[in-house]
Amino acid sequence: MISCLESFDSSSLKSIPPSLVDGQWPTALAPMQDVTSLPFMKVIAKRGAPDFFFTEFFRVHANSRIDPEILSAVTENPTDRPVFAQLIGENISDLRRTVKDLMAYPVAGIDLNLGCPAPRVFRKNVGGGLLRVPGRVSEILDMLRVEVDSLLTVKMRIGFEDDRFFEELLNSINKYEVNLLSLHARTVLGGYRSDPSYSHVSKAREFVNCPVLLNGNVSSSKSALFLKEQTGAHGVMVGRSAIRNPWIFRQIREAQSGVSIFRPTMKDVYQYIIDLYEALNKPALDEKKCVARMKKFLNFVGLSVDSDGGFLHEMRRSQNKTELLKVCSTYLIDHGNAEKCFSDEPFDGLVARPSSESKEGCHL
Ligand SMILES: Cc1cc2nc3c(=O)[nH]c(=O)nc-3n(C[C@H](O)[C@H](O)[C@H](O)COP(=O)(O)O)c2cc1C
Repeated sequence: MISCLESFDSSSLKSIPPSLVDGQWPTALAPMQDVTSLPFMKVIAKRGAPDFFFTEFFRVHANSRIDPEILSAVTENPTDRPVFAQLIGENISDLRRTVKDLMAYPVAGIDLNLGCPAPRVFRKNVGGGLLRVPGRVSEILDMLRVEVDSLLTVKMRIGFEDDRFFEELLNSINKYEVNLLSLHARTVLGGYRSDPSYSHVSKAREFVNCPVLLNGNVSSSKSALFLKEQTGAHGVMVGRSAIRNPWIFRQIREAQSGVSIFRPTMKDVYQYIIDLYEALNKPALDEKKCVARMKKFLNFVGLSVDSDGGFLHEMRRSQNKTELLKVCSTYLIDHGNAEKCFSDEPFDGLVARPSSESKEGCHL
């Protein structure tokens, strides 16, 4: 294969977009399937948008078409912040066709998913599975670098079962002049609950020529500043904690500026839930489905509501909107709770279920 570098004019490369506040390091909302769609973007933007958004992944295979719902996050972006379109797939010609289609829309760039841990996905050497075949990653990046005329970004884990190909993968990041690397500091087999290996973020930062966003368990503005400082990362990407606490990007900006940090009350959290319900609730959507969708978000919110997990327990059992909102008002508004502070960190011992991409949704 002829390397794209022979024909590629690197002077055409742009750098990543500037942060909202001059001089601050950037934050990004992690791509999350069924979460980082237009309704959630609208809700989070009101509470302090991240510097960059990533769509949930567009599936790419022989018969794939651009999913209009995912695309609406790009075409109806309610913020002035850039949105990167994430792709998951491994077939070069299907990926090329999808990139060409996406280039017709105002995407900030194309992001390649090298991290999805769902077995149905990785068995096909897609998402996190590609980390076992670094030669294939190199071929894909070679093609993407030619086709993507805006920014090319990669979101990856440190390896599949271990980090044996980490340097080889980072070499490809450099060779194909990737513009931004978001590193989820776990292996694919490490799932979502293993301890992140932040030393790999430091290593990537030293190794690659592009900015590195640290991803994995950034849980508060305090942890964001600490981990950014510890690893020398360019910025941070936040996933689950942004569902739990949609003010986190605002708080990280405030912490960087050294001003006092906004502390949401339980009443603010209640209003967030109401806004989210309204944003998700489309006329064609059955109430049960809307309630089921809300539960995916509340699974994370509930980690900071009460240390006993009563909210999570009752929320999961609610059958309709009335029952769901009753649980929310009981824990967030009634009994004098409204003015209490929402916990900055999740309570120990509570677990969100499901805590990741849905198995069916990852189906390629
Ligand atoms: C519900 C859910 C859906 C996810 N969907 C995607 C996805 O579409 N693409 C992707 O690259 N990562 C996806 N991830 C992984 C996140 O982007 C992120 O890497 C991971 O949650 C670690 O960051 P955190 O500790 O801040 O949550 C998903 C995670 C969750 C919890």
